[in-house]
Amino acid sequence: MRKIQVITLFPEMFDGVLNSSMLWKAQDCQAVEFRMINLRDFGLGPRKRVDDTPYGGGDGMLLMPEPLFGAIEDAKQYDPNAKVVLMTPRGPRWKQATAQAWADSNDGYIFVCGRYEGYDERILTLVDEQVSVGDYVLTGGELAAMTVIDSIVRLIPGVLGGEMSTTIESFSDSKMLEFPQYTRPEVFNGLEVPKVLLSGNHAEIAKWRHEHSLKAK
Ligand code: 6GU
Repeated sequence: MRKIQVITLFPEMFDGVLNSSMLWKAQDCQAVEFRMINLRDFGLGPRKRVDDTPYGGGDGMLLMPEPLFGAIEDAKQYDPNAKVVLMTPRGPRWKQATAQAWADSNDGYIFVCGRYEGYDERILTLVDEQVSVGDYVLTGGELAAMTVIDSIVRLIPGVLGGEMSTTIESFSDSKMLEFPQYTRPEVFNGLEVPKVLLSGNHAEIAKWRHEHSLKAK
């Protein structure tokens, strides 16, 4: 079973997402196991401190190295070969092809979520991969980690529909993005489904879809 661990100051943010829909089903069918690690548990002193001001001055607080190293060590004890993934807007942009590659691998993953002011740079000595979800700044890495986790887990063989191979699945993903689709009713509020889609003429339908595909534009 695939192990996905998350290091975060806000584990409760993941409750609704991991316990609904496909991510719930993936756990139910034992394709994946999630483990939340509260960074606060590795904080320093009676106040369980996790952040401090930057050397050299500047706004905001940085996550200190000790709690991060402690939490990552805990996660590695649970899954020694897991890859450590740092969620950061400085990382390379997350792509469908990367989601596919990580789903196809047998690796476990440890997602490290921090606040946007950043981390003490020395954490990079423990990190295998950095990931950003786009060119905008989120308050923390949690929403980005949920996005990345969803995109990987749905591609793990057996999670979405039994026999479908991940190759066929990713093929259908990209096809679905290409052209507009319709379902019943044929007319809704005066808006009609294009006649060709009702024709049963597969060659004409394929031609229409090609003409209306995003890639053709
Ligand atoms: Cl991974 N983290 C944060 N804080 N902001 C982001 C991001 C990650 N990706 C895009 N913006």
